[in-house]
Amino acid sequence: MSPLAPSSGSVTAVIGAQWGDEGKGKLIDLLAEDYDVVARACGGANAGHTIVVGGKKHVFRLLPSGCLHTHAEIILGAGMVIHLPTLLEEIALLRDAGIDIVPRLRISCEAHILFEFHKEIDGVLEERRSKTGTDIGTTRRGIGPAYMDKAARMGIRMERLGHDISEELRKRAHDLQTCYGITLNAKRELKQLHEAAAILKDCVTDTIDLLHEHMQAGKRILIEGAQATLLDIDHGTYPYVTSSSTTIAGALQGLGIPPKVLGDVIGVAKAYCTRVGAGDFLTEVQGETAERLRERGGEYGSVTKRPRRCGWLHIPDLRRSAMINGFACWNITKLDVLDTETVIPVGTEEKNGKAVMKEFVGWKTATVGITAFDQLPKQAQELILFIAKETGIPVRYIGTGQGREEMIVRS
Ligand code: IMP
Repeated sequence: MSPLAPSSGSVTAVIGAQWGDEGKGKLIDLLAEDYDVVARACGGANAGHTIVVGGKKHVFRLLPSGCLHTHAEIILGAGMVIHLPTLLEEIALLRDAGIDIVPRLRISCEAHILFEFHKEIDGVLEERRSKTGTDIGTTRRGIGPAYMDKAARMGIRMERLGHDISEELRKRAHDLQTCYGITLNAKRELKQLHEAAAILKDCVTDTIDLLHEHMQAGKRILIEGAQATLLDIDHGTYPYVTSSSTTIAGALQGLGIPPKVLGDVIGVAKAYCTRVGAGDFLTEVQGETAERLRERGGEYGSVTKRPRRCGWLHIPDLRRSAMINGFACWNITKLDVLDTETVIPVGTEEKNGKAVMKEFVGWKTATVGITAFDQLPKQAQELILFIAKETGIPVRYIGTGQGREEMIVRS
């Protein structure tokens, strides 16, 4: 158990503060061993976290990164949109590595099923938008269309797994054809559902009751946020956002947990910044600097493999994310990616739609694997202390490499 181990009954959340891909998975991996339950609340297979299973790297999209801790119960909450074949693939991958997750997997009966036709609609809508240069650059995993159905009260929820839904699908066929020119392949959808029911039927349950029983029993719950604050449907850089609520409020709503039980919310931000897809990015850089950050940081979409747009940290974004989520502390990730930079610009404020930059002197030495703050070069310490001062929030965790142990933990 870590020195910062949570007390009995704690509910802790890890939430991204930028545009996703902050490296939340590593912190979750570190924290999860001290928690009884790891829960995902919202989103779907648009998320992508790289997990090393049996010495091999895999990208998980639906299961939370905490699923590798074999003691933890895994909950997929009501706010999620679940593509069942993807979930079965992840389960099979874990089984091949000797981990049977099914007995400890609980899926909310209120979560929505994301069908193949949702992915097809996503593609049609992106094509339409691209004709007017307004494409969002979605992951094309059907996320927007699944939430459209949910909001229109025509979605099909996990509670229907194992039931005959051919009539519901038949009703959709006409609408899919006329609105999107899509011919529904009902046979394929039903087959996928049938295969999923055979494996997952007993996992589907009322996760509200379950979570509340756990809380009463003093179990410790870790909420794993998906995507990140600046992609939130309400508070993000709309319309270049995802279709779910990615903040702590969205996570609580997605899981049916009341705010009063919430403990610490940990904000995760990279020491620089990236974005996938379209939308404003004031501190974005181009050319050699972008390429260097991309290569050093491995900044390629884990789901789509698209090169991520790269740029510098922007303090006003962190402040805004902190306001929305009430962060108790920061995890600043991937500090070592900046090891070769001569100058490290940081956006300190926004003026007339542009970022005002302050330049920090680079440390030009390897920080990989450093686990104590005072062993960091002075310039790196200065950058971290600047983030803490400017946001008014302490930096408790600092990522200094890909490995699990490559993290500075400050108590
Ligand atoms: P959607 O969620 O697939 O609809 O995509 C909407 C926007 O959110 C696009 O710009 C995506 O690149 C972005 N996005 C969605 N999920 C993630 C994520 O997990 N990491 C980074 N960007 C994401």
